Amino acid sequence: MSTLVTNIGSLVTNDPAQGDATPLGLVLDAAVVIDGDRIAWVGAAADAPAADEAFDAGGRAVIPGFVDSHSHLVFGGDRTAEFNARMSGRAYSAGGIRTTVAATRAASDAALEANLTRYLDEALRQGTTTFETKSGYGLTTHDEARALRIAAQHTEEVTYLGAHIVSPDYADDPAGYVDLVTGEMLDACAPHARWIDVFCEKGAFDGDQARAILTAGRAKGLIPRVHANQLSFGPGVQLAVELDAASADHCTHLTDADVDALANGGTVATLLPGAEFSTRAVWPDARRLLDAGATVALSTDCNPGSSFTSSMPFCIALAVRDMGMTPDEAIWSATAGGAAALRRSDIGRIAPGARADIALLDAPSHVHLAYRPGVPLVSDVWRQGVRCR
Ligand code: NIG
Ligand code: FE
Repeated sequence: MSTLVTNIGSLVTNDPAQGDATPLGLVLDAAVVIDGDRIAWVGAAADAPAADEAFDAGGRAVIPGFVDSHSHLVFGGDRTAEFNARMSGRAYSAGGIRTTVAATRAASDAALEANLTRYLDEALRQGTTTFETKSGYGLTTHDEARALRIAAQHTEEVTYLGAHIVSPDYADDPAGYVDLVTGEMLDACAPHARWIDVFCEKGAFDGDQARAILTAGRAKGLIPRVHANQLSFGPGVQLAVELDAASADHCTHLTDADVDALANGGTVATLLPGAEFSTRAVWPDARRLLDAGATVALSTDCNPGSSFTSSMPFCIALAVRDMGMTPDEAIWSATAGGAAALRRSDIGRIAPGARADIALLDAPSHVHLAYRPGVPLVSDVWRQGVRCR
């Protein structure tokens, strides 16, 4: 079954070879042919081949589906009271994670899965066609493994984050918790995950603990990614680059040496502006990273504590307004950048052979995603070739 999506006013391909010479590879008056779950053809609408059915985009803009490469969607409860307190002047601290750990442990599998699918549907309506999600609110072998099992039913991008904070059960024995995370818990979790992550931060895990955790995960076939330099300067970014992690996430407090390491290494800098928005923190400096030559991804960090948004368009708008990105850069980072952070070449671009993950905007140009913040512009979504919105 093939579909010709035609009369596309402006098409972001993220493939400069197909469009203008910019990283977005823009094609005007374009068409795309979807065949099964793949893109079969991209080009000028006037040259488009025939297909089984046609869809008229009405001159609107089309972009690759968003790749949200960082979220925490397996959780119970919410943290409205904490948010309220923060908006009255209280500072964010990683300690709030314990509230969600208690609610997650108390939730049934069915409740956790229903919550997860609710936020996935929400994200899909806003154009997200690929998402990564993590454990990290269980912190026992049983609860971490079940979080990953549930997540794995909905995405192949599953991350083991047993090292989110030291479990409250090990408050007096952090070394014992690291042993658990790198031993029995890792053995139970590794079969369900592709990635291993650690929150490298004061109040969570220091550089030595993080190195031990990521190295143990790598020995079990998991690929590292790191929550790095979110709340303060620290060793997370350097460690991520040293271990060739796929991404260093947050990157809010960076020294010049951190920026250099990201620019010269193979680790993507993933920026999560929803967290700075919701914690009233200083913005990460995307401009500094881009000017240095780093690869930047944008993601939601969706979680009930620090960033309770599933909206990639919202993150794009923040990144453009407050982090020094141009609209083109932000859209690239939310699509191709996310794909790079997940080491995927089949998503985040619209090109023959790529997965048919496409978002149609109720707008003449992708720039409207930043220009018209808060407006639900995603009108139609195809995921793996299936029109699902
Ligand atoms: O990425 N920083 C660590 N983890 C999450 C927040 C988790 C929470 O507050 O529940 C983050 O921001
Ligand atoms: Fe996070």
